[in-house]
Amino acid sequence: MKAAFHKSLGAVVMAAGLGKRMKSKLAKVLHPVAGRPMVLYGVDLAQQLAGEHVAVVVGYQGKDVRAAIEAGGPRQPVMIVEQAQQLGTGHAVQQARDMFKRLGTTLSTYVILNGDTPLLRVETLQALLHLHLEERATVALLTAAVDDPAGYGRVVRAKDGRVQKIVEDRDATGAEKQIHEINVGTYVTAGPFLFEALDKLQPRNAQGEYYLTDVVALAVERGLRVSALAVSEAEGMGINTREQLAVAEQAIRRQICAHWMREGVTLRNPATTSIDADVMIGRDTVIHPDVTLEGRTTIGEDCIVRSHTRISDSILGHRVVVQDHCVIRESRLEDDAAIGPFAHLRPGAVLRRAAKVGNFVEMKKAELGEGSKANHLSYLGDAKIGKGVNIGAGTITCNYDGHKKHETVIEDDVFVGSDTQFVAPVTIGKGAVIAAGATITADVPPDTLAIARAAQVNRPGWASRQRALLTAGTAGGRQAASGKRQVADPLAPRPSPLAKKRVKAKKGQNK
Ligand code: UD1
Ligand code: MG
Repeated sequence: MKAAFHKSLGAVVMAAGLGKRMKSKLAKVLHPVAGRPMVLYGVDLAQQLAGEHVAVVVGYQGKDVRAAIEAGGPRQPVMIVEQAQQLGTGHAVQQARDMFKRLGTTLSTYVILNGDTPLLRVETLQALLHLHLEERATVALLTAAVDDPAGYGRVVRAKDGRVQKIVEDRDATGAEKQIHEINVGTYVTAGPFLFEALDKLQPRNAQGEYYLTDVVALAVERGLRVSALAVSEAEGMGINTREQLAVAEQAIRRQICAHWMREGVTLRNPATTSIDADVMIGRDTVIHPDVTLEGRTTIGEDCIVRSHTRISDSILGHRVVVQDHCVIRESRLEDDAAIGPFAHLRPGAVLRRAAKVGNFVEMKKAELGEGSKANHLSYLGDAKIGKGVNIGAGTITCNYDGHKKHETVIEDDVFVGSDTQFVAPVTIGKGAVIAAGATITADVPPDTLAIARAAQVNRPGWASRQRALLTAGTAGGRQAASGKRQVADPLAPRPSPLAKKRVKAKKGQNK
């Protein structure tokens, strides 16, 4: 069901608390759930219902929470409200009053959400709004029957079943603690009632806080109607601890996997597939077991992603094949590109159409042109490589001189022999050929063969003579052990044949 947009509706998302029970340096609402900061789930719901009339109350690490909301790309701007001191949920909502006043329109209804209930669905909130309207309630709230209610506010009902009040765990009597119906922390209230009731709150409780939940008892005291809608335990779960965080994470990941399967993506083993909330995947793409897709990754149609691969914040075109054990971060792979197994694309790697990167290849800020290949054991960093280039096994761009990074440019149709080092900055012209084992320190003009290695020396018969010497040495026992007989250095400069002749003539003897 598409969310209806209510013009006279305001929404408040409470996100100012520290979240003590998380035992974290990070504000609770910034902890990611399926790769998105928790607060964004509430903000997203609020915007689907109330459009531009959304206030988010921030406080603890407020700047970071604000930044996370902005980076999360809300549909429209939200109003950020400061709660300088976290004096409770009632106090938090109070902070939004001025912001709503400034809108110039009177809002008839408010939806209030805790910032720590990421499993809530928009359909549930719409049902709550509906109930609020239908029963002409002043307050409507979500409740859930849970196995272990410890830590939650309990919903206290009268004999006739009507909601009387909410009592927090720390303020509950022994009998109240036995109640398994908990307050989810999601409310719909009548506009005129809300801020007036908040003014009446008193911090008379175990935590010395202004509890938003006390508005329920206030409404009941005045004979106003309070309605409740029950949701499943899973959906109503508030995240207060790391264990709850893990449960929510699993639940949302299952939903995300189910969503992509419905959209035509094959997941070979969804139980081990981890897909972040903002990832996009095209039809007929096949994801093998143990794959992690993170951040704002987009994968096209008909791709194959094999096991033990992590892809973060990257864009893959159509028909891209990612073999096992690859790490791909902030990179782009165009249509028909192929990579792996065991390849590492670091930020700024670009594989143009049908380019191929093989095993044990690392790329960083490097572009591999259309149809080009780097199939084995290479490091390509700060490089621009054109079309139809073959990068031989063991090629390395030496991009760092200890102070600065330098670029290697390899133009179209270059053939790079194996075990080549490019000492950047260096440019290889179109169609050039680099002989294997080269250390290239100067530019190579187009269509040129570059050889940059010591010339080969062949010594006919050297090996057999050496073997004979060694064998004699072994037979000679002590002599060999004493090390007196040494293996000759095969590369030691040898006298020229002419000089040899002279020596022979002088000595007048043959050997
Ligand atoms: C709250 C409810 C409890 C309910 C539970 C559901 C109150 C008093 N209690 O308890 O009845 O069962 O949620 O999960 O409301 N916040 C602020 N400013 C503050 C305090 C909190 O913005 O001064 C924000 C937090 O960041 C959080 C939300 O309000 O997003 C709820 O706060 P939390 O401390 O988690 O309340 P609970 O103890 O879980
Ligand atoms: Mg909570």
